[in-house]
Amino acid sequence: MRGKRLAVIVAVIALVSGASTADAIVGGTPARVADTPWVVAITTTDGQLICGGALVAPDKVVTAAHCATIKGVVGRNQRPAEQLRVVAGRTDLRATGEGIEAAVANVWRHPEYKDVTKGDDVAVLTLARSLPYRTIALGEVGEDGVVLGWGRTAESSPPAMTLRKVTVPILPDAECVAKEPDYRPGAMLCAGRGGRDACAGDSGGPLVVRGRLAGVVSFGRGCARADEPGVYTRLAHYRSTLGF
Ligand code: ARG
Repeated sequence: MRGKRLAVIVAVIALVSGASTADAIVGGTPARVADTPWVVAITTTDGQLICGGALVAPDKVVTAAHCATIKGVVGRNQRPAEQLRVVAGRTDLRATGEGIEAAVANVWRHPEYKDVTKGDDVAVLTLARSLPYRTIALGEVGEDGVVLGWGRTAESSPPAMTLRKVTVPILPDAECVAKEPDYRPGAMLCAGRGGRDACAGDSGGPLVVRGRLAGVVSFGRGCARADEPGVYTRLAHYRSTLGF
């Protein structure tokens, strides 16, 4: 009797913990924009999810340069501002009546940006209007951070389309260099030891440390793999370039 009950409890625990690693941003939980009003989605004009971003001023969104890039025949061109929308105040991107969709008046990509794994993967979108949502200030890295997004919940799952978040450990630069050949200490940060990570569709989105914006989701090999941390643009490095 006792043994049987124990077996059932163990089975339930195994099931629940197994489900949580297979589920989420990857490995995360649902989040609400009401709690983090500065997190925004970047979409096409017809509402397809491109990336995430963060409101750093009423009319400025920090995102990844690769989110504002189109691969052309001859190279990687800046995506025209009129092809982008910023969606704020909408936890479920399919709830088109909620929140605000803002047009983009100007796209600034880091002038050195070449390719996502080469770094300088940061862009600032200037909105056509100011948004009435709380903004987030830039900050430094710490022991861990929270990454938010509407993207895939596993490498081969479709985007969640509802906001999710997960806490990820921030790794020492030496460990990032060892695991990611393109890693640039100081200008990037890497986070995650498997199970928890950002994934496709989360790019450009915020990594928050102590309530401040420390990183931008940039790239990864697969998602949440044991030896493949997610790589982020380290915003503290770009503070003077960005000017806020
Ligand atoms: N580059 C991907 C995107 O465009 C996201 C990369 C993040 N991947 C990761 N495993 N942390 O959405």
